[in-house]
Amino acid sequence: MDKQEVKDLKYFIETWGCQMNEEDSEKLSGMLKNIGYSRTETKDDANIIIFNTCCVRENAENKVFGNLGELKHLKKKNPDLIIAICGCMMQQQGMADKVLEKFPYVNIIFGTHNAYKFPEYLNRVQTEGVQVKEVFNKETKIVEGIPIDRKSDVKAFVTIMHGCNNFCTYCIVPYVRGRERSRKSEDIIAEIKELVAQGYKEITLLGQNVNSYGKGLDEDIDFAKLLRKVNEIEGLERVRFMSSHPKDLTKDVIMAIKECDKLCEQIHLPVQSGSDRILKIMNRHYTRQDYLDLIDLIKKEIPDVGITTDIIVGFPGETEEDFQDTLDLVKKVGYDSAFTFIYSRRNHTPADKMENQVPDDVKHDRFDRLVKIVNESVIRNNKVYEGKTVEVLVEGLSKNDETKYTGRTRNGRLVNFTAENVKAGDLVNVKIVRAQPFSLIGLVE
Ligand code: 5AD
Ligand code: SF4
Repeated sequence: MDKQEVKDLKYFIETWGCQMNEEDSEKLSGMLKNIGYSRTETKDDANIIIFNTCCVRENAENKVFGNLGELKHLKKKNPDLIIAICGCMMQQQGMADKVLEKFPYVNIIFGTHNAYKFPEYLNRVQTEGVQVKEVFNKETKIVEGIPIDRKSDVKAFVTIMHGCNNFCTYCIVPYVRGRERSRKSEDIIAEIKELVAQGYKEITLLGQNVNSYGKGLDEDIDFAKLLRKVNEIEGLERVRFMSSHPKDLTKDVIMAIKECDKLCEQIHLPVQSGSDRILKIMNRHYTRQDYLDLIDLIKKEIPDVGITTDIIVGFPGETEEDFQDTLDLVKKVGYDSAFTFIYSRRNHTPADKMENQVPDDVKHDRFDRLVKIVNESVIRNNKVYEGKTVEVLVEGLSKNDETKYTGRTRNGRLVNFTAENVKAGDLVNVKIVRAQPFSLIGLVE
């Protein structure tokens, strides 16, 4: 290869699914940047195309298949194009072979546990011309020190633990991400200090269940203690975390949010269902009353807290009465935002084998009714901010309206606002003039 060619090497990466996958993609980008590749947003001029996949719901999987099919003509045009598929979907038994059978032009397949080996696989494809398929079915030791090329210059995700031990009966995550493993607190703190030195202002600590952070480590640490340590880091402005399992969110963590100035007043607390009967079959280990009591405690201790959640409708056996319990809980909590999902059957999970699956039309009808109730509370809560002044961390110009800046309040609300002389990374006080359904509009006076 001559120098010109080396200089122009580009990769395209598409990520489906959760923040964990986003962070994995930032690591793949970091590794590629290290070996001279730059990112492109169009597939047409890419030398490498990577799909980082998700399998939490069936529609995410279908999208990956659709996208893979479309690559056929690109590969025909450019036989040197390297196509790599990775992520949770590849961890499913038999999936890698299924992909290769349907899309034989794929060059590299790997899973969530061996993403750190991507440069090695790439090298093998380039030098030996082979097809690489390697998926580890067991989790490895946490690999530290992988370069990360982050999307934002202001806020960063930091994974504090991998995997999940909860085995909610609908969920495939424990099968594809393995058992819980926590990173050492010193590695986490060192990474955050480095980010602060680079100018980052906000950190979101990530894990499938951050509240069980620390189990199995040789140090005297739990999640609340980690939060307090992170709060000590000078120059950092804001700390968030997700997700919290309601059964494991402790009073210690709530008090840490109350007492530590950098911990933002926001909690993502997936409820999944408001029916005790369904929660039990889901293997969630709390009742609706436990959940409502927890919400009361949070609201009492943390004024102006933003509470968000995940909810599934149409879990096997869910009756209209169960669903009414969910609607009632949503009204009682008054969420600031909620991710709502239609139950999706996932291979190998206990719920997939249940016989009383809910018909599609019933699921869709419940979904629509749920979204309506959720939106009512989101809009009502946003309205309260009209006329108030809130602290916003500026993330840059708004993508939809370049006359405005965009950022979030401490409790997680999206604010688009007009201002002069501000830049990404600034903390500004914004006066809210109008509440829209899913954002606030304001100005810096
Ligand atoms: N079907 C629908 N939603 C699901 N989730 C997880 N598994 C499924 C499934 N099989 C949702 C849960 C979880 C979120 C990340 O995805 O609400 O909290
Ligand atoms: Fe899935 Fe439950 Fe683990 Fe969340 S806590 S990742 S829903 S098994």
